Amino acid sequence: MANYVSEEELKKQNEFLKRLRNINEDFYKINGRRPKCNTETYGCQQNENDTERIRGILKEAGYEFCDTCEDADLVIYNTCAVRENAEDKVFGRLGILRHIKETRPELIIGLCGCMVQQENMAEKILKVHNNVDLIFGTHALFRLPELLLNVIEKRKTVTDVENSDGSICEDLPILRESDSKAWVSIMYGCNNFCSYCIVPYVRGRERSREPERILAEVKELVKNGVTEICLLGQNVNSYGKDLESPCDFSDLLRLVNAIDGVKRIRFMTSHPKDFGDKLIKTMTECEKVCHQLHLPFQAGNNRVLSEMNRRYTKEEYLEKIEKVKKAIPDIALSTDVIVGFPTETNEDFEDTLDVLRKVEFDMIFSFIYSRREGTPAAKLGFVLTDSEIHKNFDRLLEVQNAISKRKNDEYVGKICSVLVDGTSKNNENMLSGRTDSGKTVNFKGDKNLTGKYVDVEITEAHTWSLNGKLI
Ligand code: SAH
Ligand code: SF4
Ligand code: F3S
Repeated sequence: MANYVSEEELKKQNEFLKRLRNINEDFYKINGRRPKCNTETYGCQQNENDTERIRGILKEAGYEFCDTCEDADLVIYNTCAVRENAEDKVFGRLGILRHIKETRPELIIGLCGCMVQQENMAEKILKVHNNVDLIFGTHALFRLPELLLNVIEKRKTVTDVENSDGSICEDLPILRESDSKAWVSIMYGCNNFCSYCIVPYVRGRERSREPERILAEVKELVKNGVTEICLLGQNVNSYGKDLESPCDFSDLLRLVNAIDGVKRIRFMTSHPKDFGDKLIKTMTECEKVCHQLHLPFQAGNNRVLSEMNRRYTKEEYLEKIEKVKKAIPDIALSTDVIVGFPTETNEDFEDTLDVLRKVEFDMIFSFIYSRREGTPAAKLGFVLTDSEIHKNFDRLLEVQNAISKRKNDEYVGKICSVLVDGTSKNNENMLSGRTDSGKTVNFKGDKNLTGKYVDVEITEAHTWSLNGKLI
């Protein structure tokens, strides 16, 4: 059974929240406006979901939100540690904040999430950026009211990066990004320890939420107009292993599928070693589960896979993909790939390309291996040079882009049901939404259609998106 944050602790945090609200009321009386907070999120959907919780807490504490750090009284960056460039971005932002804080010393700078959860990282950051006021790790999110209050009242730097397996905290306030779609974390942490990956070190051990809690959250969301649910976990196939009364991920999917008002169910991420017949069968039998599967394979070569501690072979992976395709012929497949794992040779890399060609994914997320201190792979020496790795990376994109385009071409002429997300980020005269298979479709239409399902005829295919015509 997972550890839960106690009722008593939550009550204590609520008291801190009230005190924060009083302080912010006084701020309003003096300044004629509410204090403004700017949040930024790096990393995965788990972090996006955590930021929604952070914003929920801050809203209850009396903050308003703004889009830029220039306008903010409080800045909170929710950081990621999965690759070095994610950390570089945060250091870059801190450089910008330094200038702002020179002219506005009252600006409060907060950092949280996976990057700061790493050993000695808080010290490392404060050494360079001593103007950071608040640093809290992934396990301390629920203590935000207390931490922020300490910063404001004591005007000193506060850090809280407890090294633990992590507890589950239910019933935190939440301010969600979208009114029609919602992330629902079903579990936290990861036990897989893939040899390149920092996530298990910064997110703690796997812990599953009670199914009743998850179902209650989904029902509440539906009541508020949400129709698309994305169930989140680093490895959703392990869901329920630590629960007292048995309920695995397939069981959970069926329970969510049975909730009135839910129209689409997605989930991520599945680990190939735990993905199997039971889940495939469940996907075919649950009509609301989208025909979309994200199944990271990381590398195609069996020796590399073994050194990555992935615990499946190329052949096993391909066999599972064949089974899914047979059971759900219109399934849209996506994956994650790492190029340049330390011991990967050019010949090994051919196996990765071979998997791409055989599976024909709709979309891939590809990354150049990034050394993460403290992981087993960090001790390995490189076989290829940087330039050879980059060459392989370019080849990977070339092979995949052609496949993605071809896959999208198959959509032209089809009519798809699209859930409208809102106006397109790149063109405010267009709407943007997603098909059941998770493809982005851009089309002309009225903004009022946001949150609704509409039929769109696909007229044009690009590598990353589709264009269409509202019917
Ligand atoms: N739990 C998920 C996602 C983990 S992080 C899963 O197992 O699939 C998302 C992706 O980042 C991983 O799938 C992997 O492709 C990539 N990644 C993780 N560590 C990395 C590293 N050190 N260097 C480069 N890419 C990495
Ligand atoms: Fe990282 Fe592997 Fe866990 Fe995914 S399954 S989070 S890649 S350790
Ligand atoms: Fe990054 Fe943490 Fe997610 S390291 S990828 S934000 S779990």
